[in-house]
Amino acid sequence: MDLAEDMYREELLDHYRRPQNHGKIGNADINYRDFNPVCGDEIEIFAKVKNDAISEIKFAGKGCAISQAAASILTEHLKGKKLAEAKKISNEEMLSMLPIKVSNLRIKCGLLALKAVQKGMLIYEGAKQTKQISRTDD
Ligand code: FES
Repeated sequence: MDLAEDMYREELLDHYRRPQNHGKIGNADINYRDFNPVCGDEIEIFAKVKNDAISEIKFAGKGCAISQAAASILTEHLKGKKLAEAKKISNEEMLSMLPIKVSNLRIKCGLLALKAVQKGMLIYEGAKQTKQISRTDD
C-alpha cells in the first residue's frame, strides 16, 4: 500500500473511531433505521428540519468501519442542506465522498447511511403531504 492509500485509509478509520454526529435526537422530524440484511449492521438516522433544510442530524448504529465512517461523512455533508438538494445525492456521489474506493462487495456498506436518509426523507415528506391534505379537507 502506498503512502496516499495509507492516508485515505487512515481518514476512513478516523471517522470510524471518532465519528462526527454520533448520537440521537429526541423528537426528530426524520427518523429511520435501516440495516444490511447480509451482515445485520445498522444505521439509524435522526434529523431536525427547519425551513426545508436539515438543521441538525445525527446517527446511531453498529457495523463495519465503512458503514459507520460513511454515516459520519454523510451527516457532515448534509448539515444545513436543503431537503431538495439532499434528495439528489446519488449512490455514486455517496461512494465518491468516501476517502477510499470500496470494492463491489462493500458497496452496500458504503450506501447504508444514504439509504436510511433517503427512506427517512420519503416518510417525512409523505407525512407532511398527508397533513397538508387533511388541512385542506377541514
Ligand atoms: Fe455490514 Fe459493512 S459488513 S454494513
